[in-house]
Amino acid sequence: MAALVWRRWAVFGMAMLVCACEQGGPAASAAAVGEPAPPHPGKITYERYCFSCHAAGTAGAPLLGAKEDWAPRIARGVDELLRTTIEGIPPAMPPRGLCMRCDDATLREAVEYMVEASK
Ligand code: HEC
Repeated sequence: MAALVWRRWAVFGMAMLVCACEQGGPAASAAAVGEPAPPHPGKITYERYCFSCHAAGTAGAPLLGAKEDWAPRIARGVDELLRTTIEGIPPAMPPRGLCMRCDDATLREAVEYMVEASK
């Protein structure tokens, strides 16, 4: 009787060990390999509202990824770029980049995305 009880505990203990291994295993290897980085939060806004001008250079818009277009702008800082984005730059850069429903934080993400992609 006592032997049976011990055997049950032994099986239980082994099951726990296997379980612990499984928990540690895949999670640890996923962390080591690294999940793909999530897209920049500003990318969605950019692609919806800013892309139309900034991917084509329409009316002199600084092209996404064009370092020479962006370097002097990046030098002025994201705060300043956000200000001109919100106010617009007449005649060609419309206020809020035409995204009237974007709040300032959303616009900042879009500006940061463009800056990051253009360094
Ligand atoms: C209708 C076309 C158009 C759209 C849409 C547009 N832009 Fe622009 N943007 C421009 C043009 C043109 C300029 C260059 C203005 C200049 O330097 O005279 C510009 C300049 C900028 C600059 C540089 C500002 C500076 O101070 O030099 C930023 C930042 C910017 N846009 C962000 C955005 C963001 C963010 C969006 C989307 C939410 C957006 N733009 C949508 C046309 C556009």
